Amino acid sequence: MVELDQLKQELKKLNVEAGKIREIAVEKRAEFGRKLNLRKREILARIAEAERAALDVEVQPIDVTAWSGVNEPLPELYPTLQGSRHPLMTELDRVTEIYQMMGFEVVESQQLDDEYHMFDTLNFAKDHPARDGYDTFRTEEGLIPPAHTSTMQNRVLKRYRKQLEGRGTLAVVVPGRVYRNEDVDATHEHTFYQCEGVYVSRDCNMGQMLGILKEFFEKYYEQKLNIRTQPGYFPFTEPSLEFMIEKPKSLGGKKGDFLEMLGCGMIHPNVLKMAGIDPEEYHGFAWGGGIDRLVMLRYGLDDVRYFESGNLNFLREFG
Ligand code: DAH
Repeated sequence: MVELDQLKQELKKLNVEAGKIREIAVEKRAEFGRKLNLRKREILARIAEAERAALDVEVQPIDVTAWSGVNEPLPELYPTLQGSRHPLMTELDRVTEIYQMMGFEVVESQQLDDEYHMFDTLNFAKDHPARDGYDTFRTEEGLIPPAHTSTMQNRVLKRYRKQLEGRGTLAVVVPGRVYRNEDVDATHEHTFYQCEGVYVSRDCNMGQMLGILKEFFEKYYEQKLNIRTQPGYFPFTEPSLEFMIEKPKSLGGKKGDFLEMLGCGMIHPNVLKMAGIDPEEYHGFAWGGGIDRLVMLRYGLDDVRYFESGNLNFLREFG
């Protein structure tokens, strides 16, 4: 610092000197000026260097996020925009709560799965064309973002096998996000939600399954509903059914206006066997259906693409 002060003094002196140029004889002024400028440049360079050296020593780490002092006003806080839960998440909670009230446990599905759980454990024969019917995406490593929540059946059956042997029943629902590589339009999304149900006991039957499903839909839509089934085909159930409800008047339905809500059936013996459950001793039923469709009917939405659109006006209506 001392050196820096001396240099600055010297610079001042030089400037004073320079002011005296008029007193110098005209023919000597050029030489006088040249020498002064050289000297000045040298001193300026040394000042710059001394200043840089001083900085190196004095720089302290600064916390730029810290409020710098009690005497300064507090920084202005910007009003935050109030967000809200995504409507599908709210509805998914309602769905699982209804099943929980009926005694079902809830297990979440996973978002990356494999060929084994997507098809093999569900009794899809190798190279069976039904495998293509699910329009699965695949990662470069050959993993599969699940195309239905049924991918969880084998895991759930294995995980709750002990409980089944102890209590005599296994009752689980699996909500989850699913993915299909299909053309997107008002009724098809590449990403949507499903909820799977799995029930196993020694003596359960199709009538109980239909009772549970009817109860679920009546609770969800808060009214009595007419239901109907028609035969379906899934490799993992035998027999398989498509389950429909009559669109209620309050939701814009006319008499006889039946909507397919989910697929269901008695769990195929091979599916139980693959999870280490003896199909001679136990029977089960299972179902799986889209949550998006369920919610669309409840709120009279006509386009499934709203859910994944990030459209704030749409989301705010549910806020
Ligand atoms: N996973 C089927 C689908 O997405 C739906 C389904 C049908 C699930 C029958 C089931 C079932 O558990 O038993 O098309």
